[in-house]
Amino acid sequence: MKNKLYIGTNTKMYKTIAQTAEYLEELGKQIKTVDREKIELFVIPSFTALESAGRRACDYGIRIGGQNMAWEDEGQYTGEISPAMLKEAGATIAEIGHSERRHVLGESDEMENRKVHAAVRHGMTALLCVGETGLQKEHGVADETLRIQIKEGLYGIKPEDASSIWIAYEPVWAIGTGGQPASAEYACERHRVIRDTLFEHFGDAAYTIPLLYGGSVNMQNAEKLISVPDIDGLFIGRSAWDAAQFGEIIRKVLAAFLRKHS
Ligand code: PGA
Repeated sequence: MKNKLYIGTNTKMYKTIAQTAEYLEELGKQIKTVDREKIELFVIPSFTALESAGRRACDYGIRIGGQNMAWEDEGQYTGEISPAMLKEAGATIAEIGHSERRHVLGESDEMENRKVHAAVRHGMTALLCVGETGLQKEHGVADETLRIQIKEGLYGIKPEDASSIWIAYEPVWAIGTGGQPASAEYACERHRVIRDTLFEHFGDAAYTIPLLYGGSVNMQNAEKLISVPDIDGLFIGRSAWDAAQFGEIIRKVLAAFLRKHS
């Protein structure tokens, strides 16, 4: 399994340029004593904050990503941001298909697939987010939903490009203020389905792909979640937006991760 812990946050439509800078500075202090060899730490801020965040994050060994990305290199796409623009601003990760993009802004699996291809083409990490809605869970089609999102989202991506792919399992019903975190047992079962689907698609390369869990991760449940065999990392929203609290979660989770692999 992975020898690194993947942990990061998407700040959604919160934090201005100044607030992001302040946040990164504090996060940098928080992780000074943390063994960075074992951690892939990332922050995905708003587009306007990307450039200044990109400059700061380098000093702290934090990777920066964009919350969305166009699939074309350039063109008449008002309101979109190209891979080259993201890279120029210091982003090396493209977050693709977050639940709010799919369910609030109407993105389809086909659109996510084009974005994954664009990320791979531009040498970026594609962080593909998947997850069933509450209704799909209730109707007993959570696994089917995940399999479709993975297979459609990764259609045409070859095993040799598997190193550019990260997957975040984020059940829609678990995300945000009204969300309930998935239990470690439930997350474990879904991660297994995702891993199996990746294996069908990529063969052995599936085992090199980091699988992150997201959706109401907090100080109380983070250690238990990371102890699950197929959970390689955590993708955290609200609980990570206070840098001191995120720092504490990182330290706790790293200790649990090292115990899991000892
Ligand atoms: P949350 O957000 O931790 O606030 O539930 C997770 C996400 O949207 O990635």
